[in-house]
Amino acid sequence: MLSLAKLLLLSTALAAVASAAPTQESNYPDYCSLLAKAQPGQITYQQVANCYRSVDFNLKQAKEAIDTLTTFYNDAFVFRDVAMTPNLKAPFTTSPVDAIASLKKIGQKQYKNDFDFHHDLALLAMSFNDAHTTYAPQCYSSHIFLQPLQLYAPVINGTQSIRVYHDATKSGFENCEVQRINGENPREAGFSKDAGVRFNHALASHRYWAKTKVWLDFPGLFSFQPRLPETPYVDYVLKCDGRYAEKFRGQWEVLSIVPDGSFTDRESFVSNLCMHSKPDANSQPKNVMDPNALDTLLGMLYEREHGEQDPSLKDLPDAKLWASNNTAVYQLKSMPHIGVLVVPSMEMESKTEIPAIQEYLSLIAKHGVTNIIIDMSGNFGGEEEFSALLPGVFFDIRGDKSLHAHKTRFRVTPAIQRLAETDLHDTEHSTYWDPTNLADIETFTPFKTNPFTSRVVDLTFNGRSAAFSQQVYGNYDQNIIDSSITHPWSNDPSKIIILTDSQCGSACGMTSNYFVHRHGVKAVAVGGHNNTPLSVFSFPGASVLDTDAYIDSFEQLGLKPTIQRLPYANSASVGVTLDYSGNDTVPLEYNPTRFPAAYRLDYTPATAYNHDQLWAAVAKTAWK
Ligand SMILES: *[C@@H]1O[C@H](CO)[C@@H](O)[C@H](O)[C@H]1NC(C)=O
Ligand SMILES: *[C@@H]1O[C@H](CO)[C@@H](O)[C@H](O)[C@H]1NC(C)=O
Ligand SMILES: *[C@@H]1O[C@H](CO)[C@@H](O)[C@H](O)[C@H]1NC(C)=O
Repeated sequence: MLSLAKLLLLSTALAAVASAAPTQESNYPDYCSLLAKAQPGQITYQQVANCYRSVDFNLKQAKEAIDTLTTFYNDAFVFRDVAMTPNLKAPFTTSPVDAIASLKKIGQKQYKNDFDFHHDLALLAMSFNDAHTTYAPQCYSSHIFLQPLQLYAPVINGTQSIRVYHDATKSGFENCEVQRINGENPREAGFSKDAGVRFNHALASHRYWAKTKVWLDFPGLFSFQPRLPETPYVDYVLKCDGRYAEKFRGQWEVLSIVPDGSFTDRESFVSNLCMHSKPDANSQPKNVMDPNALDTLLGMLYEREHGEQDPSLKDLPDAKLWASNNTAVYQLKSMPHIGVLVVPSMEMESKTEIPAIQEYLSLIAKHGVTNIIIDMSGNFGGEEEFSALLPGVFFDIRGDKSLHAHKTRFRVTPAIQRLAETDLHDTEHSTYWDPTNLADIETFTPFKTNPFTSRVVDLTFNGRSAAFSQQVYGNYDQNIIDSSITHPWSNDPSKIIILTDSQCGSACGMTSNYFVHRHGVKAVAVGGHNNTPLSVFSFPGASVLDTDAYIDSFEQLGLKPTIQRLPYANSASVGVTLDYSGNDTVPLEYNPTRFPAAYRLDYTPATAYNHDQLWAAVAKTAWK
């Protein structure tokens, strides 16, 4: 997400104007009714801001929310204490956060309106620089915001500058240098403890979109915000070749991501969109981690670029495409011995996708490919099982299953112990804490007893301690991989390279860590700040759990949950597993030595616009 906290500081004046909208004192006009009546395509920033800010602050609900989050963070959030670490070593630049103290402070504050309260909680969640920790009420995430300019940061003749990547206004700003944004030097945004990764998150990037099997330009978080931006517009100072610096004011384009007719006025906005309805699989709250929300956005961008009916897909790379579905394989025309496996997400059904990948790889091997680039561009994570199995397609580990497993700890409380005990004997349901889904790290066999009641340890980070489980492994079915299939690059790390734009998060980070640290595969990270090492991944740390899933886990098993549902439909989640790389004692998420890529590659205008050129540059870097 955009660095809301920073923008908040530098746009106080504008924010003051925006929050001058009447709240309790004047209930007329009904701003949400005006918003509901706005035509799609003509919704303004101010209409959304006025509606959001017209909802009254409700002290009772606020206290409930703070109570729930405090218990949830205390009982389940594995980074509660380690997040307070000051002076993290390079490449990390993130500030320490004390989650519990921050919640208390927010709980003691009087708010002018409801939105500001929830906004503070969202800022707190974002301050961990880890996309597993989110706070996004559905109603205040009902609209997304796009700038007309997308930015990138190529290095030209040794100098890096922020430039316009795409100009939707067609004013000829493409490749103009961006000197100021809202009066400041442009800065990073996003989810990572590495500033170079946050910079990449802010900028435009390529993404393979499995749904249509085409490549799209993803706008980056300078240009796309999933919640109300701090300022109603963005003021740029642009320097175009041969022209004087000129000012440009970019208004936010607003898109509604809730169905038409979801609300008609403030009352229905609150009751239909804000309030927690009965859990319903079809109305999951949206946040940027939610693949459905990303898909919605990508769909909208795709339609805009190509038109809804236009079947002429501008399938970006010119390389020979041999097969594509949820993943894709290409062969470079300029270097036909080099192939590319595109893995845009880990949101994959292992049982079908692992065999598909094995088949795709066999196809390109048959056509002369001997070296392979695994392109993880824009991969934001997904299934842990897939992350554990993917490296097994490249490296035969029949001898040692532990090579593709991270030792993992959960928080332990008496309620969690009861939950696991009940789940152990319940054949119908399976929660995160189901012992039969976890394996003993010595024997690699699934638990038949409750691992949460033995070998519990107190771990102290930054002077605060909490109870954690023994280390366990996930229990995944390695037999999904057909180990009889081999390729010219099998078991040879010198013929395999990972391409990452460092957005690679969660399960993508975990899989990359197996490739790099267990097998010695090198990664090429592209972008970031020039002359500065760049991380392979953004937030590799853990599995994600939201308050609803936590409560559902108890209720499914007939147990009483330890927290109440948040008053609002919400995507309020935390990292729930503490994962370690190998025998490390520092958790992966907070271990800077595990992050930097072997190679960092600058974007140039050529490689930023053209994925073929990027692949060629990666191949030259890896196999010069
Ligand atoms: C980069 O350097 C080349 C060769 O010195 C020069 O021709 C070109 O104009 C330079 N480009 C920019 C953008 O400065
Ligand atoms: C592509 O993936 C979908 C599931 O996402 C699957 O149903 C379909 O069979 C796949 N197609 C091919 C040709 O593998
Ligand atoms: C972890 O330590 C064990 C025991 O000393 C050793 O056998 C194993 O190879 C180590 N694993 C890694 C990944 O370093």
